[in-house]
Amino acid sequence: MQIVFAASECVPFAKTGGLADVVGALPRELVKLGHNVTVYLPLYSRVRPLLESEPRNAVRSITIPFRYYNRFVAVVDGGMREGVQFYFVDCPELFDRPELYGPSGGEYSDNAERFGLFCRAVLEATKLLGVPDVFHVHDWQAALIPVYLRTVYAADPAFHRSGVVLGIHNAAYQGKFPPQTTEQLLFPWDIFTMDEVEQYDRFNFLKGGIVFSDMLTTVSRRYAEEIQTPEFGEQLEGVLHKRAADLRGILNGVDYAHWDPAIDRNLAAHYTPDNLEGKKVCRADLLHAFGLKEVEESTPVIGIVSRFATQKGFDMLSLIAEDLMHRNVAVTVLGSGEPIYENFFRDWAFRHPANVAVRVGYDDALSHKIEAGADIFLMPSRYEPSGLNQMYSLKYGTVPVVRATGGLEDTIEEWDAAKETGTGFKFHGFDPRDLLAAIDRALTAFKDKEDWTRLMRNGMARNYAWAVPAREYAEVYEKVARKRA
Ligand code: ADP
Ligand code: GLC
Repeated sequence: MQIVFAASECVPFAKTGGLADVVGALPRELVKLGHNVTVYLPLYSRVRPLLESEPRNAVRSITIPFRYYNRFVAVVDGGMREGVQFYFVDCPELFDRPELYGPSGGEYSDNAERFGLFCRAVLEATKLLGVPDVFHVHDWQAALIPVYLRTVYAADPAFHRSGVVLGIHNAAYQGKFPPQTTEQLLFPWDIFTMDEVEQYDRFNFLKGGIVFSDMLTTVSRRYAEEIQTPEFGEQLEGVLHKRAADLRGILNGVDYAHWDPAIDRNLAAHYTPDNLEGKKVCRADLLHAFGLKEVEESTPVIGIVSRFATQKGFDMLSLIAEDLMHRNVAVTVLGSGEPIYENFFRDWAFRHPANVAVRVGYDDALSHKIEAGADIFLMPSRYEPSGLNQMYSLKYGTVPVVRATGGLEDTIEEWDAAKETGTGFKFHGFDPRDLLAAIDRALTAFKDKEDWTRLMRNGMARNYAWAVPAREYAEVYEKVARKRA
């Protein structure tokens, strides 16, 4: 089958979170299954240095009409990488910027135009470069593809047989804009109703995608259920519930070519379940990188790598931060995002310089060092559609402590010392005392070296390779293609 991916992030070109890891890995796996996959991305300024010095234009100019003017985009050929074709939508006035979405966790004021243009450009480009059997479009930034396809382009014979699947990685990010967006992006006003793109008087990209796609996917079974409830649906639970029959929860995979301590090039030493010696070297290297010189061998190191967003539950952590300092632990943190959390972590590190260290920023190599060098990995998320870091942690023998939600609930099994089963520690409520209790269970287990090694090995033996989810996605595409045939 011919499949086109459209997304706003993809490793190695542009990443702010797990979406990039997924869009970087799933297409390759689909190619292994015999499918033909093309990925479309915006050409952000950070992408340019990663392309050839004089990249070829696959399409020189496409006209994208707006209400009072036209914009002209080129499609840059990013070439084939491991069997996957990459194309970049080049519109310097909209994408040649330092950030993907906006300055320090904020939004550029023209994001509706930026991603509206991206969606339309992808459709136009495929007419010249290959119309797929199925479009798989990801998150709100690509969610207008199904809306254009089934409204403005409904009569276009080029797309009569194309199916479209919306992948929802996070229902909280919806792309909500003023009603006038409808005519700015040249949609007919009659789609601005509560059954289509309107939501509380806003033009809602994600809702449009949910309504107009043939099928919907999300990134864990649990989250597929959760988003149909008011607690997690972010006010889209009604429309998601209506489409429940077409919604699949497929747990994300792990790209073990990039996330495996036996081969990871970012590490000071390599290790495997049979020989864990290298992990000690990685731990020392991590403590060195964070300037934590006095941490003793008996002190467990907690690692955090995260976007600093309310989703990630650090407000709960802030309430137990001082209590935690009465235990024997060290903490290494890497992340960036909302100032309130950056300040909390900086302040925590300032007050406990011997035990807590934070690096505010984005640093891929350091994120791997934390996965390898920490003993415990902390993810107290309020909600977590899939989560990748807990699965990376399992592979690196770094025991996850997580809140039981979404993909965290689906992937982590509570350690049972009597049976020697389980892979980590989970807590359920929103009570910070439950978080502290889960950390305490981990600290207790850490004291028994044999138990701890068993627990590490249980996690390292779990396999979340993309091969399984890729087959599930292929089934979704086949179903959609059959519907359209
Ligand atoms: P989300 O997509 O909600 O941020 P995931 O767990 O799915 O959460 O994926 C996060 C990805 O982003 C992981 O690959 C993680 O290592 C990476 N990441 C997050 N913050 C940083 C950072 N500050 N520096 C480097 N990598 C980061
Ligand atoms: C989102 C979610 C995260 C998921 C990622 C990739 O950013 O927050 O849980 O793993 O998308 O699907």
